[in-house]
Amino acid sequence: MLKSVPGTNDIFSQSKEYAFREPVFRYIVETAQKVLASSGAQPIHTPIFEYAEVFQKGVGLTSDIVVKKEMYVFEDRGERLLALRPEPTASIVRAYNEHGMKVWPQPVRLFTWGPIFRAERHQKGRYKQFHQVDYEAIGSADPLVDAESIALMVKIYRELGLQGLEVKLGSVGDPEDRLRYNAYLRELFRPHVKRLSQDSQARLESNPMRILDSKDPGDQALLGELQVKPMLEFLGSESSAFHQAVQRYLERLGIPFHVDPSIVRGLDYYVRTAWEVHHRQIGAKSALGGGGRYDGLSEMLGGPRVPGVGFGIGIERVAIALEEEGISIPPDPSPDLYLAPLDEAAKGEALSLAERLRPKFRVEIGYSVKKVGKALEEALKRGARYVGFLGEAERQKGVVALKHLASGEQREVRWEALEEALGPVSGVQR
Ligand code: HAM
Repeated sequence: MLKSVPGTNDIFSQSKEYAFREPVFRYIVETAQKVLASSGAQPIHTPIFEYAEVFQKGVGLTSDIVVKKEMYVFEDRGERLLALRPEPTASIVRAYNEHGMKVWPQPVRLFTWGPIFRAERHQKGRYKQFHQVDYEAIGSADPLVDAESIALMVKIYRELGLQGLEVKLGSVGDPEDRLRYNAYLRELFRPHVKRLSQDSQARLESNPMRILDSKDPGDQALLGELQVKPMLEFLGSESSAFHQAVQRYLERLGIPFHVDPSIVRGLDYYVRTAWEVHHRQIGAKSALGGGGRYDGLSEMLGGPRVPGVGFGIGIERVAIALEEEGISIPPDPSPDLYLAPLDEAAKGEALSLAERLRPKFRVEIGYSVKKVGKALEEALKRGARYVGFLGEAERQKGVVALKHLASGEQREVRWEALEEALGPVSGVQR
């Protein structure tokens, strides 16, 4: 029997794992949609694969996604290299440029949700295919937009009912600030290069800031001994003023946050604002989402200079946090009516009656002929409100023998009167 690829998950209503229950997934997406749409942002859906360069140039040659070959890259019938998206931001900025959104009123604020692919070593909360809700505000360099993005992200978590949140705000500075910081880091680490892990040795030249993010115990010990100065001490006057402005706006909005000088972020495109939202109860893999500013990304993709800021929320991580906090999501409502044909000739009638009622009610039918007792059992198993028996006698009279399962009351209802008899409508829209 063939199985799914480890690190990928089936998301369906009865999944044993809370995090992969479809109503939980839908609750997260719908809540995020509501918050983002009410802020005036518009949905966008980009393809789940792009030319590989979009991501190589976008997320950057020194990001884990590229260095550790986490991208699923494949050749398209011998033509160009394509990649399954390892994040949506580069795709959305590509779409912004491709469709000339620069002439629209700025910033253009877009959101999306869907699958993301990273060939990482999987464990709880880290998957090869996972899902994100993503928001981007493209075309403004104002710190107000950074603060609004953070506030929107926090609002989504709050609307979901989550409480154990920690908003960690940092700044990765401007490219010039980073040059100075990287020079400082190289000088600091060089005498200890042999103690660094292999990954970190490679990062020493390409992107020494990422060493600060290393999970390797040896690297961690060295970092502890060296008392590395944080990036924040290397901010120039402009990026520093920007960082202060974001904080002032957040304070004004009453968003609790703390400045975390250790925020590095794993993608190369970030400048200035960078943040993560963590959850107190879910430990190491606790980042429920992250975001930041990426003023140079459009240019990296061959477009004009366009500033932007946005965030990504990990849907599975949020589901794990909801479970930790004991937030239960109601399952989908059970059927209003289970319509049971009692003989072969009633099957067609059951189907047409079901179709007539279905725009308003949840109606399931028995696909094979059953005896009354067995049909009742099937209706109970499904948690239906009513069971409708349809046999020879009922067909002759144009009625259904309708039994209310909770009270046991049964009466004959004419086909035209079924809607009224079944009311009030239950949540069929879910
Ligand atoms: P990211 O921090 O790489 O940022 O991912 C955002 C979130 O996706 C993470 O905080 C985490 O919740 C979730 N996530 C990441 N990797 C995995 C995984 N392997 N399994 C499960 N969940 C995962 C970005 O992707 C940026 N595009 C965010 C952004 C948008 N920045 C600006 N605009």
